[in-house]
Parts: sequence; structure tokens; C-alpha cells
Amino acid sequence: MIKKTLVLSTVLSMTLLNATTNKEIKMEAKAAIMKMGKSLQSQMKKNMKKGGPSQAAKFCSKKAEGIEKEINNKYKKGISVKRVSLKYRNPNNAPLADEKIILQQIQNDFNNGKKVPKMIVKQISKNEYKVYKPIFLDKKVCLKCHGDINHRDKKAYKIIKSTYPHDKAIDYKAGEFRGAFVVKMVK
Ligand code: HEC
Repeated sequence: MIKKTLVLSTVLSMTLLNATTNKEIKMEAKAAIMKMGKSLQSQMKKNMKKGGPSQAAKFCSKKAEGIEKEINNKYKKGISVKRVSLKYRNPNNAPLADEKIILQQIQNDFNNGKKVPKMIVKQISKNEYKVYKPIFLDKKVCLKCHGDINHRDKKAYKIIKSTYPHDKAIDYKAGEFRGAFVVKMVK
């Protein structure tokens, strides 16, 4: 009886610990993603206002990666954020094998009309985690650079294509699953 209780309480405390860690990881990842997402978005908006889609396309093609690096340098040690996609534009945003599996799962859920989780936590080694936050084309403006030929801004896309000749990130419809933020975290 004593033994049973002991085992039970050990199991219980382990699940509780895991739930707490899980929550902590999600919160930390969310904060890191917000920081990255906000910077990219506000810069994009500024450029869009300044010179329309072409200016914004120039900015994204030349500066997005630099901004990503800069922000990654500001995170505390052990945290990094990137964006990945099955249909990537920037070859540096191609998913790694384990990331591809998760993206494919999300894509399948999306295609089948299932609810896609807000965040997915995967443990990749004893104290290393990857947290995924799906990105959707939730704004019409995205289609100017990621839509089909009828929605794309021709001038802007010419600039994009000259930087990314093997671009796969087009022909999306509004609301579709586009990719994910991936936060890598050492705990
Ligand atoms: C003015 C053109 C433009 C607009 C508008 C735009 N993007 Fe992009 N997007 C780009 C370019 C250029 C890249 C590649 C450079 C980079 O960010 O690394 C990119 C890359 C991405 C990536 C990284 C994965 C990849 O394919 O390389 C995601 C995710 C993404 N865009 C989502 C969005 C979403 C969501 C919106 C709407 C809120 C949006 N984009 C609007 C031009 C644009």
C-alpha cells in the first residue's frame, strides 16, 4: 500500500512538473516570438507606407535576415527564433528534417479542417526544446508578395524574384497556413 502511494505520488509530481515546465516554455517562446514578429511587422509597415509594395519587397529581401540576426543576438543565452516553411522563399528558412515533419502535420490538419494548435512543444534532447507557432496568411497584404499572379504586386514580385530565383512562397490564398516560428530553447 505504502509502495503504491509512493509510486502514485511520484508519477503525479512528475506530470505536474512537466506541465509547469511546458507552460513556462510556451510563455518564454511566446515572448521571444512576439519580439521577433513585432520588429519584422513594424519595419514592413514602415516601408510599405514609405514606398508601397516595391519598397517593402526591397526591404524584406535585403533586411529581414539582418533584423532576425540582430534580435537573436538580444535574446538571453540559449534562445533563438527563426521562421520555416514547406514552401520557403529564403533558402535559409528551409526546415530541418524534424521541423519538416511538424510542418507537414500542421499542413495536414489545416487541409483536413482540423483545429491547428496555437503552439507545439517538442523535446529534442534532455534539456533542449523546439517550440512551433504556426503562421497564417491572415492579412490581405500578404498576398501582394505571396499570392497568385492575380493578387501579386508585379513590380514588387520582380524585385523578390531577382533576390530569390527559386522562390516557392507564392500561390497562397488568404488565410492559408504559411509556415511557423521555431524557437529553440535550452532549459
Ligand atoms: C512586400 C512583400 C511581402 C509581403 C507583403 C509579405 N511578405 Fe513574407 N516574405 C517576403 C520576402 C521577400 C521574404 C523572404 C525574406 C525573409 O523574410 O527572409 C518573406 C518571407 C516570409 C516568411 C519566411 C519563410 C520563407 O518563405 O522564407 C514567412 C513565414 C512570411 N514571409 C509570411 C508572411 C506573412 C504572414 C505576410 C503577411 C502578414 C507576409 N509574409 C507579407 C515578402 C513579403
